[in-house]
Amino acid sequence: MVKTAKHEKTLSQAIRERRATPSFDGTPIPPEDLHRIIEAGLSAPSGYNMQPWRFIVVQSHEQKKRLRAASYNQGKVEEASAVIVACGDADGWRKDLEPVLAQGLEGGMPEGFAAQARNSVPNYLSHFSTEEMRGWLNKNVMIAFTHMMLMAEVMGYDTAPMEGFEQEKVREVLLLPLSYWVVALLAVGRLKGPDKFDGGRFDMHRTVFAEEFGKTLK
Ligand SMILES: Cc1cc2nc3c(=O)[nH]c(=O)nc-3n(C[C@H](O)[C@H](O)[C@H](O)COP(=O)(O)O)c2cc1C
Repeated sequence: MVKTAKHEKTLSQAIRERRATPSFDGTPIPPEDLHRIIEAGLSAPSGYNMQPWRFIVVQSHEQKKRLRAASYNQGKVEEASAVIVACGDADGWRKDLEPVLAQGLEGGMPEGFAAQARNSVPNYLSHFSTEEMRGWLNKNVMIAFTHMMLMAEVMGYDTAPMEGFEQEKVREVLLLPLSYWVVALLAVGRLKGPDKFDGGRFDMHRTVFAEEFGKTLK
């Protein structure tokens, strides 16, 4: 059931109850809800505030069908109300740095900070290998992706994150520029049928350490 703003889940509830949705019923998402989910993603933090994410929102039946074919025929790509294809733009910083600094200066960024960023951002990013750039894009884009996923869950929607797609095929379907790197797909909609089982999570002792590797967090 889609909850109205009055009956939104708390973030804790959304985190607890979220499952990677196996199947969607395809009902359209009202544009204002979709915009709110997307805005949550755009509010995410990013390195130097460069916001290197780019999102292609796929809702038309024909385009979802093509995207499904580029995603190992995963049915939920076609069933979801919307599939948000999360990409990173490896060249975005070149044109975005000045607008980022202008926005920052408007919001109170000190002049000295902007002057330093004008040097350090190109120094940092222009030396990246392709692999390093993809790593940087992946980490930034996935933060925005997660903001969207959890906002959708808070609003009562169901979501499915997906890495099962073919990079080149998705690029072709979406007519992406060469500098774009497809990071992940986020299907959003309403659950159809039974939800996925809860796969469980490792206990903290297995994956979390205190102060240094191997020491248990008390
Ligand atoms: C980055 C990422 C990629 C994923 N890709 C797929 C996918 O392509 N197809 C799929 O069915 N599930 C995919 N999943 C869902 C995971 O299998 C699922 O999150 C995991 O089994 C834990 O289940 P839960 O999310 O329901 O707790 C992906 C999850 C993440 C975070």
